Amino acid sequence: MLVWSCIVLILFVRNTNGIHNGVDAKFDFWTFIASVSINGYQQCGGTVIDDRIILTAAQCVQGIPVNNITVRVGSAFVNKGGEIIKVNAMVVHEKYEEYVESDDIALLWLRTSALSRRVTKIPLATIEPAPNDYPSNAGWGEKSLESDVLPKRLQNGVTKIHERKVCIQELIQPIGPELLCAFYTQNDICPGDYGGPLILANKLVGIAVTGHGCGYVGLPSLYTNVFHYLKWIDQNSKKLKKNK
Ligand SMILES: *[C@@H]1O[C@H](CO)[C@@H](O)[C@H](O)[C@H]1NC(C)=O
Repeated sequence: MLVWSCIVLILFVRNTNGIHNGVDAKFDFWTFIASVSINGYQQCGGTVIDDRIILTAAQCVQGIPVNNITVRVGSAFVNKGGEIIKVNAMVVHEKYEEYVESDDIALLWLRTSALSRRVTKIPLATIEPAPNDYPSNAGWGEKSLESDVLPKRLQNGVTKIHERKVCIQELIQPIGPELLCAFYTQNDICPGDYGGPLILANKLVGIAVTGHGCGYVGLPSLYTNVFHYLKWIDQNSKKLKKNK
């Protein structure tokens, strides 16, 4: 917990917390992050959860032929460094529907192992994060919707978990245990960050799904609740391994 307190402190001191208004991420901490590209253009974030498996959001890859998807790992930069790996197969959650936040989860099966000196996998959540937990997010998404500036270097920030009913007050559709409700001061996730990781105590607790306006303070951001999908992830990872 000390590490997390320090990160929170650093962000406060620099007064630029968030991916919206994000700070350059210390890549040594984010060695499990991946950038997911469609037709060579960065579209989303992702997370290395096994040597050949990337966890991302369904919205990033649904309807896209696997041959059009590539993943870059091992670099803090969106367009250089690390390694670009092709995708051989994928599983999109069978209940995912466009513009509906629930079941926004997908697995990509890589042609070769992502792991290297610069790339690690991260363990999945073993418990659900609780209100008032402060997880970290990161991504290559927009720094603010107005400026439309794409950071070339990975940005990260801290957010705060709230009771779902706090988010429901601001949303049109109610949300259930499949989603986490999070927002915190200036922090937000923006287009380009979706699919990327939400980390707490060195475990993957969430997948960025929507930032509701990219930087509108106080409006909720939603993350797929990884803990809720542990069984789905496990079953479908096994399927991908078997069919390789
Ligand atoms: C996939 O790639 C092919 C070949 O480059 C291209 O013609 C096609 O439009 C792409 N499909 C999508 C959905 O991007």
